[in-house]
Amino acid sequence: AVQRTFSILKPDATRRNLTGAVNAVIEKAGLRIVAQKRIQMSKAQAETFYAVHSARPFFGELVEFMISAPVVVQVLEGENAIATYRDVMGATNPANAAEGTIRKLFAQSVGENTVHGSDAPETAAIEIAQFFAGNEIVG
Ligand code: CMP
Repeated sequence: AVQRTFSILKPDATRRNLTGAVNAVIEKAGLRIVAQKRIQMSKAQAETFYAVHSARPFFGELVEFMISAPVVVQVLEGENAIATYRDVMGATNPANAAEGTIRKLFAQSVGENTVHGSDAPETAAIEIAQFFAGNEIVG
């Protein structure tokens, strides 16, 4: 079925001027960018977004990284978009990412790993609603 997923091009992508290169991989995989904006995340926004990881030892570092430069937030649409995008992103740790994936191509470390993608339909809906109004998504 056609699904939507939430994506973030992280600060390591904007800092290195790689947003177009990452988008080319996304579009080549058959996903459509149906909403997109470049924002500076606030600390509160980053803490809310990653609340599920708040007990992890890397939480502080993760939040600081996500607010260290602008990010590009996106809604991607396509057949099985959630799983498709996770395949295209590659493993969280770029050292384990498959050839041709975004993280293999561009990511520098498990923290600075270029992209985020939702892991399930429920989280996709929550994450999309955190950053986009309904009328900002044009499929
Ligand atoms: P993401 O998919 O955005 O969701 C949680 C993020 O935590 C993950 O990508 C990684 O970037 C980050 N992360 C996971 N493990 C570590 C770690 N050991 N050190 C720093 N960041 C991490």
